[in-house]
Amino acid sequence: MSNADKRIFLSPPHMSGEERGLVTECFDTNYLAGVGPMIDRFEKEFCELTGHADAAALTSGTAAMHLALRLAGVGEGDEVWTSTLTFIGGVSPIMYQHASPVFFDVDPDTWTLSPHLLEGELSRAAAENKLPKAIVPVDIYGQCADLDAIRELAAAYEIPVILDSAEAVGSTYKDRHAGKGADVAIYSFNGNKLITTAGGGMIASDDPDIVQQARYLSTQAREPSNHYEHVTFGYNYRMPSVCAAIGVGQLAILPDRVAKARETFAQYEAELGKLPGISFMPEAATGTANRWLTVMMLGAAAGAEPLDICEALGSHNIEARPVWKPMHLQPVFRTARHVGGDVSKELFQRGVCLPSGTDLTPEDLTRIIGVIKAALSS
Ligand SMILES: Cc1ncc(COP(=O)(O)O)c(C=O)c1O
Repeated sequence: MSNADKRIFLSPPHMSGEERGLVTECFDTNYLAGVGPMIDRFEKEFCELTGHADAAALTSGTAAMHLALRLAGVGEGDEVWTSTLTFIGGVSPIMYQHASPVFFDVDPDTWTLSPHLLEGELSRAAAENKLPKAIVPVDIYGQCADLDAIRELAAAYEIPVILDSAEAVGSTYKDRHAGKGADVAIYSFNGNKLITTAGGGMIASDDPDIVQQARYLSTQAREPSNHYEHVTFGYNYRMPSVCAAIGVGQLAILPDRVAKARETFAQYEAELGKLPGISFMPEAATGTANRWLTVMMLGAAAGAEPLDICEALGSHNIEARPVWKPMHLQPVFRTARHVGGDVSKELFQRGVCLPSGTDLTPEDLTRIIGVIKAALSS
């Protein structure tokens, strides 16, 4: 295949090269699995980045959310309130805990959980004595939710805020890293994220007890004894050392990856943003998004639908996808309660995620933009 038609993925893993040596260290010391210096180092360096008191490395962001919900005491009959515009990995754990998700529409200016909707629903639920057990805002596509506003509302009812920052490693909210300031934050290092551990996640908090409990539950809830003693059940959720080694290498180049993703966003916007009906995901005034994925919006004047763009790019061996389909529109959640209007639905119907890999070359970008321009003018 020539370079002109090589496959361009939406957001592939992008190694710096240093990861290989760190993985070799795991082989040399024979610390390959869920204990050892590389895990400790990854957690420590992650806390240095985010400012959290402690963090535990896990097999996935989904696992991190599961532990966060269980540690918040979420169980059968409880409601968990979250943003409808998200990926199911942050929502399935609500089902694992036999609780009920309630899906909130998002703010059109940020695409994140609307504090305005939350305020109204909290006072209504308080009057009916039906407050949620936890509130889970989502930092979507690396855009941080308005955490301080949400925390203030939640604190009035003593409801914990678990922030789904799965997509927001490297983003900032005010002067903090994404997730810092929530009761608990979770992150993903899945292969499609801005930085990856091949597969993995992190739970982080300023309360070291929560993180310690998460470590305990993630390693089958073993009591400190020579034999296998259990007073509760746990999970096999601990990140293997070889994955942590990749994570240590990736953390070192995170600022470069954020800069590149933001530059790619700016280039798409400069080339396409003035065409009729075309706009791009807004950036909240409260932070700096990592621009994990560049999202382009197609208004009526664009004369094309997201699927047209995906198909045109697909026919040139280029991967693109619609915006997340809101959870309240998913068949699996057809009976779940939905709060608010149709902003998320509109974003799904009008938005397309463009290739945003940090290894995109100028030639790749020219190729992608050329296909989009042709599709828009046809
Ligand atoms: C918003 C959101 N929440 C949760 C997850 C789950 O993370 P993981 O894939 O590591 O389980 C993801 C992504 O993959 C995500 O995008």
